[in-house]
Amino acid sequence: MKTLKIAVLPGDGIGSEIVEQALKVTKSVCQKMGHQLEYQEGLIGACAIDAVGNPYPQETHELCMQSDAVLFGAIGDPKYDNNPNAKVRPEQGLLKMRKALGLYANIRPVTTFPSLIHKSPLKQEIVKGVDFICIRELTGGLYFGRPQGRSEDGNTAYDTCVYTREEIERILHLAFKFAKGRNKKITVVDKANVISTSRLWRQIAQELSQEYTDIDTEYMFVDNAAMQIIQAPKNFDVLVTENLFGDILTDEASVITGSLGMLPSASIGVHTSVFEPIHGSYPQAAGKNIANPLATILSSALMFEYAFDMQKEADLIRQAVTASMESGIVTEDIAENNQSYSTTEVGKWITEWIEKQ
Ligand code: IPM
Ligand code: MG
Repeated sequence: MKTLKIAVLPGDGIGSEIVEQALKVTKSVCQKMGHQLEYQEGLIGACAIDAVGNPYPQETHELCMQSDAVLFGAIGDPKYDNNPNAKVRPEQGLLKMRKALGLYANIRPVTTFPSLIHKSPLKQEIVKGVDFICIRELTGGLYFGRPQGRSEDGNTAYDTCVYTREEIERILHLAFKFAKGRNKKITVVDKANVISTSRLWRQIAQELSQEYTDIDTEYMFVDNAAMQIIQAPKNFDVLVTENLFGDILTDEASVITGSLGMLPSASIGVHTSVFEPIHGSYPQAAGKNIANPLATILSSALMFEYAFDMQKEADLIRQAVTASMESGIVTEDIAENNQSYSTTEVGKWITEWIEKQ
């Protein structure tokens, strides 16, 4: 019997409510398939600042390092958003975790759910059948480049965008490998007409494309990509880009499928991988038992697939999620005819569906 060790980091806002459902589902899959599950909770984000004054405590880092996977909820608290002078911010916890675990690639699959297509802001014919993967570089660029700060008089601020060959090569290799297992097309998104880091990205992508001759490599400026994602999302297969562009484009890409509450993500790299919904901490909904748990439940499917190499377990979770949606057992954000269910009811229904298989 295999023991799966996971670190559970609920974080802030709706984090604890949605992670609880994903954990229930994970437990039922382990029981069904005969795996032993060991898990331990850790602090991260605003709740960690409140408890110990550090958004990513050393104890949490050690827990992550000793685990096979991290299941993560969300981070962020409005009391910090409107205070530009705060010395520590919850988001620093997430950035520290990404850097400390070497999570250089964030993978966000963008797929449509037939029962949700009518919720898309786009016309059905544009969005039906969309299926691509965004690969965002996660530990470089403007987020981490130094110097970063303010002049002494406080009236000038600066950030630095830095990328090394090594950082660009490893993320592009990963993207080419993903493309090999899919439709053999990658789109490298940059701003090489203006920015020098982007020119290095493009140069290296051109070099590497010689090694992957079976892959169709396409280059696109980020402003154009923002438009193409809306106009012709079916033309993408694997989209790869740097940190900040990826942050922006993946929010855009996520909503074309119908709801931000549906999309999971995996952050992978050197140490333990992290699985999390792509949405934020949704503080307005915290404690109300109304948040959509499906993105987090689908993140646990990605965890089985990427961290444990267990495809059957991942498929079982996805089938259960599809069944819940087809039966209308969904939260209010994606409900029809005012018939909606609570976060815990959706989690319970999916867990029981798995138990019955
Ligand atoms: C994301 C989020 C984070 C980011 C924030 C919370 C720091 O927007 O994971 O996309 O900008 O990377
Ligand atoms: Mg973001």
